[in-house]
Amino acid sequence: MDILFFSTQPYDKAYFTAANESFHHRLRFLEYPLNEDNTALIKQEQAVCVFVNDKADAHVLGLLKEKGISLLALRCAGFNNVDLKAAASLGIKVVRVPAYSPHAVAEHAITLILALNRKIYKSYNRVRDNNFTLSGLEGFDLYGKTVGVIGTGNIGAVFCRIMLGFGCQVLAHDLYPHEGLVKAGATYVSRETILSSSDIISLHCPLNEDTRHLINGHSIAQMKPGVMLINTSRGGLIDTKAVVEALKNGHIGALGIDVYEQEEQLFFQNFSGTIIQDDVLSRLTTFPNVLVTAHQGFFTKEALTQIANTTLQNISSFEKGEPLVNAL
Ligand code: NAI
Repeated sequence: MDILFFSTQPYDKAYFTAANESFHHRLRFLEYPLNEDNTALIKQEQAVCVFVNDKADAHVLGLLKEKGISLLALRCAGFNNVDLKAAASLGIKVVRVPAYSPHAVAEHAITLILALNRKIYKSYNRVRDNNFTLSGLEGFDLYGKTVGVIGTGNIGAVFCRIMLGFGCQVLAHDLYPHEGLVKAGATYVSRETILSSSDIISLHCPLNEDTRHLINGHSIAQMKPGVMLINTSRGGLIDTKAVVEALKNGHIGALGIDVYEQEEQLFFQNFSGTIIQDDVLSRLTTFPNVLVTAHQGFFTKEALTQIANTTLQNISSFEKGEPLVNAL
C-alpha cells in the first residue's frame, strides 16, 4: 500500500524503512504535520500515518476523504488528536499502536522522579564547572514514600511495579482496577485519597473529556504541600497555569513533565536561537525544581522498533481485509 507519513523525523524514516523490509509497502516521508493546508501533499496514497501532534479533526478528515484516504494509521498509543466520530461517519478506519514498550514511558517517568529528587541536572552542571559542593542538592529516600498513580493501564502498571521495587507505598486509581497490581502490593483508592496522601503523583491515564485539567487549582489544593507531580501522559491533563501558581507558592515541590498542553507548537522542533512566545512554558523552565523533556518517553530502540512493526502490520491487515485488532 502507498503510505504518506506526516511529521517525520530522521529516526522515523530509519526505523520504518528497516521494518518495511518485511512488509513491502511504498513509504513517503514528509516533515510537515498533518493539517488542513498539507492534505494537498497527498498524491496516490491510500493511507496516511501520523503522530501525537498531528491534527485529525472533522475538517481535516473530510479533506483526507476527498483525497481518497481510507486508513489513518497512528504511530502512537494516544488518540486524543483524532475525531473518531467524524472518521467513522466518513468511513475512514483508524488504527493505532496500543502498546509498544510500556517500559519506555514508565522508566522515563521514573527518570524524571530520580533526576528531580537528586537534582542530577544541577550536579551535572556544577561538576563540569569544577564546583564540587553539595549545598542545594539534598534529596529524599524514595524508600517508604507514598506514590499515587492515576491510570494503571499498560504504562501505569509497569510504573507501579517499579515503584513497589523501590519500597514505596503505591496508591492507585483507575476506572478498572488491576488485580495483578493488588497482588503485587498496590492499593486502589479514590482519586481524592491519591491527591491528599501522596508524596509523588504520576499521571498515566489518557486525555479525554473526563480527564482534561484533572490537575487544577482545586485538586492541587488537596495535595500534600511539597508534592512532586509527574506527567508523562498528555499535557492537557494539567492546567499548567494553576501548576505555575502552585510552584510559585511552594505547594508543588517539584514538577516533571514530558508532555505540555501547548506542545504542538513546539515539541519535536528546534527553536534554539528563536524567541519563544509561549510565556507559560518559558516561566516553567525558570523554576529550579521543574524538569521538562520534550515528549521523549517513547524514545527507546525497543519502542521505535515495535511502533514501526505494529503500524506496518496494522496497514497490511487493512490492505488484506483482515480483522483490525488495533482499530479504534
Ligand atoms: P492504557 O489505555 O493501557 O491505560 C490507560 C489507563 O487509564 C486505563 O487503565 C484506563 O482505565 C485508565 N483511565 C481512563 N480514564 C481514567 C480516569 N478518568 N481516571 C483514572 N484512570 C483512567 O494506556 P497506556 O498505554 O498505559 O498509556 C497511558 C497514556 O500515556 C496514553 O494515553 C498516552 O497519552 C500516554 N503516552 C505517552 C507517551 C510518551 O512518550 N510520553 C508514549 C505513550 C503513551
